Amino acid sequence: MASSGLLGLSLIHIALLLSFCFAEDPFVHFDFEVSYITASPLGVPQQVIAINGKFPGPVVNATTNNNVEVNVRNKLDENLLITWSGIQQRRSSWQDGVLGTNCPIPPKWNWTYQFQVKDQIGSFFYFPSLNFQRAAGGYGGFIINNRAIIPIPFDTPDGDITIMIGDWYTKNHTDLRKTLNGGKELGMPNGVLINGKGPYRYNTTLVPEGIDYETIDVQPGKTYRLRVHNVGVSTSLNFRIQNHNLLLAETEGSYTVQQNYTSLDIHVGQSYSFLVTMDQNASTDYYIVASARFVNESLWKRVTGVAILRYSNSKGKASGPLPDPPNDEFDKTFSMNQARSIRWNVSASGARPNPQGSFRYGSINVTDVYVLKNKPPVTINGKMRTTLSGISFVNPTTPIRLADQFKVKGAYKLDFPKTPLTGSPRMETSVINGTYRGFMEVILQNNDTKMQSYHMNGYAFFVVGMDYGEWTENSRGTYNKWDGIARSTTQVFPGAWTAILISLDNVGVWNLRAENLDSWHLGQETYVRVVNPEATNKTELPMPDNALFCGALSKMQKPQDITSSTTSISGSKLSIFFTLLMIYAAISTFH
Ligand SMILES: *[C@@H]1O[C@H](CO)[C@@H](O)[C@H](O)[C@H]1NC(C)=O
Ligand SMILES: *[C@@H]1O[C@H](CO)[C@@H](O)[C@H](O)[C@H]1NC(C)=O
Ligand SMILES: *[C@@H]1O[C@H](CO)[C@@H](O)[C@H](O)[C@H]1NC(C)=O
Ligand SMILES: *[C@@H]1O[C@H](CO)[C@@H](O)[C@H](O)[C@H]1NC(C)=O
Ligand SMILES: *[C@@H]1O[C@H](CO)[C@@H](O)[C@H](O)[C@H]1NC(C)=O
Ligand SMILES: *[C@@H]1O[C@H](CO)[C@@H](O)[C@H](O)[C@H]1NC(C)=O
Ligand SMILES: *[C@@H]1O[C@H](CO)[C@@H](O)[C@H](O)[C@H]1NC(C)=O
Ligand SMILES: *[C@@H]1O[C@H](CO)[C@@H](O)[C@H](O)[C@H]1NC(C)=O
Ligand SMILES: *[C@@H]1O[C@H](CO)[C@@H](O)[C@H](O)[C@H]1NC(C)=O
Ligand SMILES: *[C@@H]1O[C@H](CO)[C@@H](O)[C@H](O)[C@H]1NC(C)=O
Ligand SMILES: *[C@@H]1O[C@H](CO)[C@@H](O)[C@H](O)[C@H]1NC(C)=O
Ligand SMILES: *[C@@H]1O[C@H](CO)[C@@H](O)[C@H](O)[C@H]1NC(C)=O
Repeated sequence: MASSGLLGLSLIHIALLLSFCFAEDPFVHFDFEVSYITASPLGVPQQVIAINGKFPGPVVNATTNNNVEVNVRNKLDENLLITWSGIQQRRSSWQDGVLGTNCPIPPKWNWTYQFQVKDQIGSFFYFPSLNFQRAAGGYGGFIINNRAIIPIPFDTPDGDITIMIGDWYTKNHTDLRKTLNGGKELGMPNGVLINGKGPYRYNTTLVPEGIDYETIDVQPGKTYRLRVHNVGVSTSLNFRIQNHNLLLAETEGSYTVQQNYTSLDIHVGQSYSFLVTMDQNASTDYYIVASARFVNESLWKRVTGVAILRYSNSKGKASGPLPDPPNDEFDKTFSMNQARSIRWNVSASGARPNPQGSFRYGSINVTDVYVLKNKPPVTINGKMRTTLSGISFVNPTTPIRLADQFKVKGAYKLDFPKTPLTGSPRMETSVINGTYRGFMEVILQNNDTKMQSYHMNGYAFFVVGMDYGEWTENSRGTYNKWDGIARSTTQVFPGAWTAILISLDNVGVWNLRAENLDSWHLGQETYVRVVNPEATNKTELPMPDNALFCGALSKMQKPQDITSSTTSISGSKLSIFFTLLMIYAAISTFH
């Protein structure tokens, strides 16, 4: 009794102490139960991954500075990690949900992510990062709103609509994985989904009867913010709405110069916000289209993604042909010019990567230059693999960040080459040695004939240039040094390069990867390890108490009591226990 009183007293002291680090930033809690359900988006029943029984999963709606907790329960029959695309996980790669930094959540276990969404406002999404699972769903939108005191560069929209678009296979993700692991390419997807649903029956020969399609209900005269994410496997999609302009306003947490587009190419892993005014006379419903880009049209005899925009005063169904895609068969610069036209509004108040307008990235000296070159798949040790700069990444058995924490030797090599290797390609756990507070220039050179997009966790980077051909030092002369957009996923056209600049101010180990799932699955990724040489606990949060252990550290992992964690009886005791653990961790930070 006495000891518990003492504990109570110290709790108050600790709570006071804690208030300095967590301030009054509110906690928002979400429960994700991840399981298979049967769905038939293209008319063929298949296992898809649902969150809380829903496909796509729920939209996480948070406000900047919130402490977000997501308790993920893995009801799949394989390991799981959820990653938060575009959310920067400031100072905590522990929460990043990729195999290079986190041990996977085993089947039947649950694990709680806890992170603060600091200095970020915009449109992001989450998805399962392992085992090709994204091809089966498991994704959903993630909105970070501004606090009331932070202005946004447009009038508050009348509604907020999340739209997940992506190519889709009627084969399930385990079969797709088997195909790739067996050295075969996946071939063309079977169609395109919008919010987990197949197309409206825009063509009675192509689209079978009875397909459930997405309908978006709107009021005439109102303006909506549409947050569109390409969560597909590998296909770039052209997004458009019949008779409506798309006013581009934001991408992956940065406000853009506002411009109207009749359609926009959205590559795998990218997110955009459009402001769309319902200014038509509602003579009918309107088509919302997501159609495949950069595919061979004579081979792509597949369904296009078609949803319906329905005005409350609509006079009838949408009919007739879909609105035309860009007619640029003979103009390979059209799409690239469109990408270049997406620029940062440098006068809009914003958040990361830095206070907009006061930060001139163009005048900062670059400290490290990396040329990352991808090639078409190759055979290494008898296996089909993909490479970046001649290296096909092999995930470490002990995650890099954990290996550092517990001084596990030989888990990875810090030797990722600054220029592509010229010898025969090899399989390695080779990581980029990032310079803390350095300014890194990365040239992504796509030597494949397929479109690629690359994503970096933990950061938004400046997209400063892209062009066809081989990048040379002279290419720097074409860089946009003023209002290049800051984002986390950029496209790299086939036979072309894209240059990005990254301010390495976020300590941790961060995934840099191909977003195309097949390229990623076969090894097209690496990590950037950013360590503060000064011994301080200020630039990185301590390892969370619930960290999972695996690989060389698997002996440290306690089994999870699967039965008790599903009952609510022990809930309050458990939460006290975890609070104590958290406090313990917080105290350790101060000593
Ligand atoms: C995927 O489909 C195959 C049959 O093609 C089946 O054996 C397997 O269990 C399915 N996997 C999942 C996760 O549904
Ligand atoms: C998100 O939550 C805010 C209140 O915090 C609310 O105003 C807004 O409508 C919500 N957005 C969505 C898309 O649910
Ligand atoms: C598992 O879920 C329970 C509540 O159902 C929660 O109290 C516990 O903290 C979770 N475990 C982890 C490791 O997140
Ligand atoms: C840029 O942001 C400012 C400040 O919010 C806003 O007034 C302006 O309209 C925006 N400019 C463009 C071109 O989007
Ligand atoms: C429907 O699709 C088929 C196959 O692509 C095409 O031949 C036909 O012209 C289309 N019908 C209409 C009305 O567009
Ligand atoms: C965009 O188009 C709408 C009409 O759909 C128009 O009212 C608006 O002025 C345009 N905005 C810009 C910035 O061009
Ligand atoms: C408005 O509706 C009429 C038919 O009622 C149609 O002829 C006309 O093209 C429509 N205008 C617009 C801008 O959609
Ligand atoms: C598209 O595929 C057809 C059939 O394989 C082929 O003849 C044609 O050359 C391809 N077109 C392009 C632009 O690759
Ligand atoms: C960049 O480097 C140049 C010389 O190499 C130096 O004169 C300049 O001061 C540096 N700029 C910054 C911002 O450090
Ligand atoms: C990594 O970079 C740091 C400087 O940022 C350097 O001191 C260290 O030796 C490098 N490590 C390796 C293995 O190259
Ligand atoms: C790939 O690189 C080689 C050598 O630099 C070059 O000749 C070829 O044109 C490149 N192909 C593509 C598609 O970039
Ligand atoms: C950082 O925190 C750890 C415990 O989490 C502690 O052992 C270490 O001494 C602290 N380091 C510094 C420099 O404060």
